[in-house]
Amino acid sequence: MTALDARPDTTATLRFPAGFRWGTATAAYQIEGAAAEDGRTPSIWDTFSRIPGKVRNGDTGDIAADHYHRVSEDIALMRQLGVTDYRFSVAWPRVQPTGRGPAVQKGLDFYRRLVDELLAAGIRPVATLYHWDLPQELEDAGGWPQRETAQRFGEYAGIMAGALGDRVATWTTLNEPWCAAFLGYGNGVHAPGRTSPLASLRAAHHFNLAHGWAVRELRSRLPAQCEVSLTLNLHAVRPLSDSAADVDAARRIDAVGNRIFLDPVFHGRLPQDLVRDTAPVTDWSFVRDGDLEAASAPIDSLGINYYSPTVVAAGSSPAPSPWAGAEEHVRFLPAPGPRTAMDWPVDAEGLYELLTRLRDDLPGVPLVITENGAAYDDYADPSGAVKDPERVAYLRAHLAAVHRAIEAGADVRGYFLWSLLDNFEWAYGYSKRFGIVHVDFATQRRTLKDSAHWYADVIARGGLSS
Ligand code: FCB
Repeated sequence: MTALDARPDTTATLRFPAGFRWGTATAAYQIEGAAAEDGRTPSIWDTFSRIPGKVRNGDTGDIAADHYHRVSEDIALMRQLGVTDYRFSVAWPRVQPTGRGPAVQKGLDFYRRLVDELLAAGIRPVATLYHWDLPQELEDAGGWPQRETAQRFGEYAGIMAGALGDRVATWTTLNEPWCAAFLGYGNGVHAPGRTSPLASLRAAHHFNLAHGWAVRELRSRLPAQCEVSLTLNLHAVRPLSDSAADVDAARRIDAVGNRIFLDPVFHGRLPQDLVRDTAPVTDWSFVRDGDLEAASAPIDSLGINYYSPTVVAAGSSPAPSPWAGAEEHVRFLPAPGPRTAMDWPVDAEGLYELLTRLRDDLPGVPLVITENGAAYDDYADPSGAVKDPERVAYLRAHLAAVHRAIEAGADVRGYFLWSLLDNFEWAYGYSKRFGIVHVDFATQRRTLKDSAHWYADVIARGGLSS
């Protein structure tokens, strides 16, 4: 192939910048299966999914999309799509089953093989160290509300950097610490299912600390060209009206949803309004000298996961709520417009709002969309095709919003579609399908949905055609 052949097709009407990364994303517990193989021990999600009533249909990640045994097949699918990058996560209990001590060789071997096969396929590996599967032993010792868990995470990051450092292009410390802290320890809809506002705020702080300590470990072991990053599910918060009370409700959610991570990580400080808002819950005395400095170790990019916006007004939320300190002041409203199968509103404008806000708030920080996508009730028709026009419309609208944000000066370097495969969608089990590749969970047969063919075309063109 000549350099000319490799150039994106100039017929795309919305062309993305040269070098833009086109990827798909997955997470270990959602696709791997092989939950008890090769030394892996239970994570908090193995435990949580076995508690009756916590996950729809009693589904677990025991088998999931059986990716552990189908790595080569799944990489072949990615080649077919033409993705430049693949974002996956490492299952901590697979490589360090108790969350302490030396690594399990077989666990490391699995990720080494995955990374080597990706590189052989010309696909850049983007690894996330924590996508919610805490080793159960660490939860039994107190979990994320305990400071020691952050220390353990730093050590685990060091192990992974030592094992694979030179081969992984981008290391992401955490995926969506907001969900892990506030859904896991606040309203308990995610593992480990605790319901304590104080525990959720302690967890959030220890995630910031764990991130900072992991960055330190990664930097000390990685070659200079490796990138280090963090992925947040930032909330595109909109007040219902411009009344002072509604605007203040939005400020509260921005504090406990966004700035609780952005301020420590990018500015080495806690938002003072968050400290005031949460005074009935905590005095933040668990934050020790030097913690915020550790949390703000410089990173190379910020990953953003976006699905839909958050509309708020003054009022109160039903208990139990994940919004520590804000429950009595904020009510949540459905955004208007069409919905996905998750009942999440389809609203690409929220992504544009987020990206242009970050352009202004974090100048000089490259941005990457590390997740965006939609669940619909897909099925294979008698001809074997999976027609998902709503997903194509969703993706097109959101990519157009990313393009518009880039034109408006946001430094967006890549887009990872969630998800490559239908998978275990946490508390929804297998009832929600986010993949652009359909998985028949009875046979593990993979079928490219229409959206997969569409995405392959977008990648080949380097943008959206009219
Ligand atoms: C995000 C998670 C991801 C997936 C999508 C739908 O919050 O990071 O694992 O479940 O939502």
